Amino acid sequence: MAVKEIKKDIYWVGAIDWDRRLFDELIPLPEGTSYNAYLIKGQEKTVLIDTVDPTKEDDLLDNLDDLEIEHLDYIVANHAEQDHSGAIPLMLELYSEAKIVTNQKCKKMLMEHLLIKEDRIITVNDNDTLSLGGKTLKFIFAPWVHWPETMLTYLEEDKILFSCDLFGAHLAESNLWVDDESKVYFAAKRYYAEIMMPFRKNIKKHLERLKELEIKTVAPSHGQIYSHPEFILSAYREWISDEVENEVIIPYVSMHGSVEEMVYILSEELMRKGITVKLFNLSRTDIGALSIALVDAATIVIASPTVLAGAHPQIVSAVYLANALRPKLKYASVIGSYGWGGKMLENISAMISNLKVEILSPVIVKGYPKEEDYRSLIKLAGKIAEKHKNL
Ligand code: FEO
Repeated sequence: MAVKEIKKDIYWVGAIDWDRRLFDELIPLPEGTSYNAYLIKGQEKTVLIDTVDPTKEDDLLDNLDDLEIEHLDYIVANHAEQDHSGAIPLMLELYSEAKIVTNQKCKKMLMEHLLIKEDRIITVNDNDTLSLGGKTLKFIFAPWVHWPETMLTYLEEDKILFSCDLFGAHLAESNLWVDDESKVYFAAKRYYAEIMMPFRKNIKKHLERLKELEIKTVAPSHGQIYSHPEFILSAYREWISDEVENEVIIPYVSMHGSVEEMVYILSEELMRKGITVKLFNLSRTDIGALSIALVDAATIVIASPTVLAGAHPQIVSAVYLANALRPKLKYASVIGSYGWGGKMLENISAMISNLKVEILSPVIVKGYPKEEDYRSLIKLAGKIAEKHKNL
């Protein structure tokens, strides 16, 4: 995509990655992504805010060529992860006068990950400002959105917040500005679930700090730019709140139908009791969809068969991820089956130490569920409904 002017002397110069389908070799990107870099021309200084993934550095170069940028004073590095910093070495090579502006933690990371020389980096402190001549950048440290070194850059005169990963969405779109809020809401929620959710408490503090700023535009480093920032700010306030929904999510794997039958019995009873149920057959589901459901649900019921004396590997993988994402779940249980023995339940129980949940009695059956197992599942549904009355 060609250069786009956001406001006078402020340009989008990033890249759209229409085809990328996986991030960190883990996170599904059903709608591609973008790496947004921004160029600001002050009366005295020219600055590039973040760069692009190294696979897309030609796009960044073309954009800077289009703008006839022959001199660059600064490159602000809000985050050391390579999808934003990966083209910095090339920029430093082409613009031999340019200095990186970042914080001390990010400086160390850039030196370690990208082998950037120390004398090319200027460090700033939280709340420091940098004048470009008629335009002033303010640096706001915001650790853990998504790594410990992350910061935000606020352009004071134009009231634009360059938020890097925070408020981002993995979306490849030719329109620079948010034009379909419902589509962006879903993509931003997926992004929050997969990347930001473990840092919910940090984000809460950062949002408080942002109240001190008048923000007219939020320009993240993935997805589209928000001209009505309240849309994404209020979505984040909802996601990071301690409120949970009257929802049960059930990730499951069934090999011979026994677990599936248990899942259906439990979910039908939960639905009869007015609880929203979301099933995720892990043999087929997009793991991102499960992550999104974890943002709001009150309860998770993990449903696994027993394989090689333990939980099914697909369950192990999903439970590991759910535990790492630290969702605000309040209750958890395990249901499942075994053929002759094993430690499936112990396996799963040992993997959920990050979940601050009350464990509800599991239902584990030998072979196919029988009359007494149905009763246990109905009892479990009743217990969940009782707990959900107090959400
Ligand atoms: Fe978009 Fe944490 O990088």
